[in-house]
Amino acid sequence: MNELDSIVDSARHAFSQASTPADLENAKAQFTGKAGRITELMKGMAALSVDEKKSRGAAINLAKQAIEAALNDRRQALADAELQTQLKAEALDVSLPGRVREPGGLHPVSLTMERIEQIFASMGFDVADGPEIESDWHSFTSLNNPPNHPARSMQDTFYVDINGEDGIPYNLRPHTSPMQVRYAHAHIKKHAASGKPMPEIRVIAPGRTYRVDSDATHSPMFHQCEGLWLGENVSFKDLKVVFTDFCRTFFESDDLALRFRPSFFPFTEPSAEIDIQFQTGPLAGRWLEVAGSGQVHPAVVRNMGLDPEKYIGFAFGMGPDRLTMLRYGVNDLRLFFDGDIRFLRQFR
Ligand code: DAH
Repeated sequence: MNELDSIVDSARHAFSQASTPADLENAKAQFTGKAGRITELMKGMAALSVDEKKSRGAAINLAKQAIEAALNDRRQALADAELQTQLKAEALDVSLPGRVREPGGLHPVSLTMERIEQIFASMGFDVADGPEIESDWHSFTSLNNPPNHPARSMQDTFYVDINGEDGIPYNLRPHTSPMQVRYAHAHIKKHAASGKPMPEIRVIAPGRTYRVDSDATHSPMFHQCEGLWLGENVSFKDLKVVFTDFCRTFFESDDLALRFRPSFFPFTEPSAEIDIQFQTGPLAGRWLEVAGSGQVHPAVVRNMGLDPEKYIGFAFGMGPDRLTMLRYGVNDLRLFFDGDIRFLRQFR
């Protein structure tokens, strides 16, 4: 094999070994590049006679053409291969099932909250919402539960590392009851300028609440819904009517019994726990506690900025989480807060 044939051969070999376009261009440089082997041969012709130049030049050119042809073939082959890989990577299997986007849904407790709001709104109650980080005064003292009062231990909550205006750390509200005083203040302010007599206060305040508690029926974060009806002639009888009506509508059952069981809360006098009893269904016959309630204590009415000789009424605080468990037959509160989509999607 002469020298030129062997150069062409090694070029073909080098090109076939190149697996990327960059490798191929590097291989090409060894043959037809500035210092390539063919280029060197061309330079070497300077010393030849005219005749020798003719025949030698023609032979070198043939070899160069063969190398370029091999180069182009390989370039094409590499480009084809790359296209194939890309096509493979982007392949679409149109026979696969689609990736469906499932519609979201409201959380079961949110469904309950909405239901509570609708029912009370239909009875003329306003719906209010307030801060979850509360001052000591709003959470306790304004509700007739001063510092060091033993009733404070009923609501062991979390404290924030920042003091309120009263010099006592802010708390994560352990109940929605602070909304009684907050709402009354806002209500008075709103109507003060009108010159007309202030309308009755009739409000519910649903929201998140916090306590140091955690088991199958208690969660450190839970929900409450406060209710307050205060006017010049609102009695315990009205509480019974309103709450009975609410429960029967909420549970869609007319044969639901209610019991007002004497209890104690600093902010009500008298106070009662409200129990309900289903007459049919899996829970039939058992008394189930659903709310605390009572006639608003005169001290609380005074802290609202109202005259307890004139204003009287009732308040209640219920647990929407509990109501949700009873309505859907859920036996572990923690299921609501685990975020397990298999559980949650059943309420969609
Ligand atoms: N705040 C009470 C609690 O968290 C519940 C409660 C009881 C609210 C009586 C009231 C009430 O408004 O009148 O246990």
